Amino acid sequence: MLVIQNGWLVTPQGAAFGDMAVDGGRIAALGARLSPAPQDDVLDASGLWVFPGFIDAHTHFDMGNDLAHTADDFETGTRAALMGGTTCVVDFATQERGGTLSDALAQWHRKAQGRCSCHYAFHMAITDWNERTRAELADLLAAGVSTFKLYMAYDALRVNDGELYDVLVSTARLGGLVGVHCENGDLVNAGVRRERQSDAGVQGHPRSRPAAVEAEAVERLLRIAQVADCPVKVVHLSTREGLEAVRRARGRGQCVRVETCPQYLLLSDERYRRPDGANYVCSPPLRPASDREALVKALLEGEIDTIATDHCSYTSAQKAAAGRDFSRIPNGLPGVEHRAVAMMSAFVATGRMDAAAMCRLLSENPAREMGMYPCKGALRVGSDADVVLWDPNAAGVLTAQGQWQNTDYTPYEGLRVSGGVRHVLLGGRWAVRDGRLIAPNLGSYVARRQPQL
Ligand code: URP
Ligand code: ZN
Ligand code: ZN
Repeated sequence: MLVIQNGWLVTPQGAAFGDMAVDGGRIAALGARLSPAPQDDVLDASGLWVFPGFIDAHTHFDMGNDLAHTADDFETGTRAALMGGTTCVVDFATQERGGTLSDALAQWHRKAQGRCSCHYAFHMAITDWNERTRAELADLLAAGVSTFKLYMAYDALRVNDGELYDVLVSTARLGGLVGVHCENGDLVNAGVRRERQSDAGVQGHPRSRPAAVEAEAVERLLRIAQVADCPVKVVHLSTREGLEAVRRARGRGQCVRVETCPQYLLLSDERYRRPDGANYVCSPPLRPASDREALVKALLEGEIDTIATDHCSYTSAQKAAAGRDFSRIPNGLPGVEHRAVAMMSAFVATGRMDAAAMCRLLSENPAREMGMYPCKGALRVGSDADVVLWDPNAAGVLTAQGQWQNTDYTPYEGLRVSGGVRHVLLGGRWAVRDGRLIAPNLGSYVARRQPQL
């Protein structure tokens, strides 16, 4: 048995000073003062905040497309996640057109198995909707895949409105949840054609997909979900206008879950004017400061359910290979390692949010949405002992040199941060001790149940 003493135990209800006992990979006891037996290991957590391990429900590791292959695979990506306090990621297995969901799932299991330093699970991105795909859904849920992703943009991945409707109905019947990439694919294509003609370089990227392109897709998705009478999740929300569409749908009584990402809360589209602007190309793109401010306000007012990273990393060389053709720059940013420290620094250390609210955004809400609660995302007796011990007094500066992510830059280069990961327990075992990785590869697959919304 391990007894963690004198920590601040953080839950969405608040922080309570106390002790935690861990046994057999689970939380065995919680209390104001536990009495360890002589043979127990004891850790003094004085001054530390004890969180249920953070969950990042939006990563892309070991993913290829016609432009490039991601720099992080499951080995490097989950190691970086763990070092940043993330004890579970949910990555996207993606169906090949003409292929089956079960083949896609088997392929993603092969990518991840035996390589993960934090726990992992999979969403299924459906790209080819037909009767055979529909018939596979129940098997997916039985295999622990209870969340799905649909794309409204990217010609190789997207579905049409009728398919979107059909997937929402079919998955909801089984208790699943669909997250949707909301950009109008036809408008993106038209915007890319237009901006390529003007030879705008990287700045053509945000111009090719302005806020209205996201907002239209969010509005349409939510109307489709209304007709289907299904809950739905908007992933990586980046705009004020998209947020307003969410408010309208919620006002109609719809169940809409909203995820945003650190890049949309901290960065803005001025990055595309820098010489390394290609490094910031992601979709949806970084937005003007007014969108960022609207999202921050919504976050502070409790309108956003989860913060995930959409980690999809490439190297600067991969980004630069496209030259002036912005449409050939692989889309995506690194971030899985820096989510917690960046968010804690921006919102908790500055007093704009308390640790309990951050616990809800990074741990409890993703665990509930992903069908993992209360095994994960909770400090409760019987929950898995995936635990982060956070030092609120640590201070540092984020740099690419010091990172675990397998790329040569970070969008947060030079960011001064307050707080940091001191120790991480994964399934009751020390994975990180005093900020040092001591046990890689402890992660295992998490078969999930139905989302709790
Ligand atoms: O630019 C991004 N976000 N790349 C990853 C794929 C996606 O759309 O989520
Ligand atoms: Zn997306
Ligand atoms: Zn994504």
